[in-house]
Amino acid sequence: MRIDVVSIFPEYLAPLELSLIGKARQDGLLDLQVHDLRAFTTDRHRTVDDTPYGGGAGMVMKPEPWAQALTAVAAARPVGAAVPGSAGKPVLIVPSPAGERFTQAIAHELAEEDHLVFACGRYEGIDERVLEWAADHFTVRPMSLGDYVLNGGEVAVLAMVEAVGRLLPGVVGNPESLVEESHSDGLLEYPVYTKPSSWRDRDVPAVLLSGNHGKIAQWRRHEQYRRTAERRPDLLDEFDAGALPRADRTAFADLGYDVVDGHLLRRPDA
Ligand code: ADE
Repeated sequence: MRIDVVSIFPEYLAPLELSLIGKARQDGLLDLQVHDLRAFTTDRHRTVDDTPYGGGAGMVMKPEPWAQALTAVAAARPVGAAVPGSAGKPVLIVPSPAGERFTQAIAHELAEEDHLVFACGRYEGIDERVLEWAADHFTVRPMSLGDYVLNGGEVAVLAMVEAVGRLLPGVVGNPESLVEESHSDGLLEYPVYTKPSSWRDRDVPAVLLSGNHGKIAQWRRHEQYRRTAERRPDLLDEFDAGALPRADRTAFADLGYDVVDGHLLRRPDA
């Protein structure tokens, strides 16, 4: 996969040289290039922002440096690469609190692409016409990390590149670890423990020492249900409860949920 990141703070992306993503780059699994937006300005002061039409606080990023930068990186598209869902265009991800929410499902979608471009906005954002213009050359996806405001897109790009990069074949040593993690099945992950089995008067749950793999799998599943119900009940709205075994229905009943038409419904008295 090829990834281009355009930012006025290219140094901000230095952590992508570390750990699994850094190794993936060294191993040639990921070709990641970071570009300084100011390199695409033409004035002496290398200006990237200006005051907003209509007034208001803050500055807006000027369109032309973005058009120059995005034209240059679009040309760097890998040749002969497979072309999945994005109609033959690279995907342009514009981090913004006004974007679509980035999820594990989207990370999986993006991991199928051959070329991702991230445009890091700063200040009040990028002139909206850039996104309209870019739609001729890219599949444009404004993307939010969550319902809070960062100072710019760089931190969001660090998170998204890591979430996508670790899904690329060969990046994570044991691909099985990708299967049983939070959000892979619409639930939060079960709690994990390691040695010693007793630590500061706290024992590891006995079932995990039992060697009974069926029981352990069931306990872990029920812990996923409990955690998700406690911390992220919103995720259970989407959970397909149609084919749950009886023991799992009972586990949900104990948490205050009934299964109705394949969906979990929280009992009003629970
Ligand atoms: N830029 C500023 N805030 C952001 C957020 N929540 N997600 C993605 N990009 C952002």
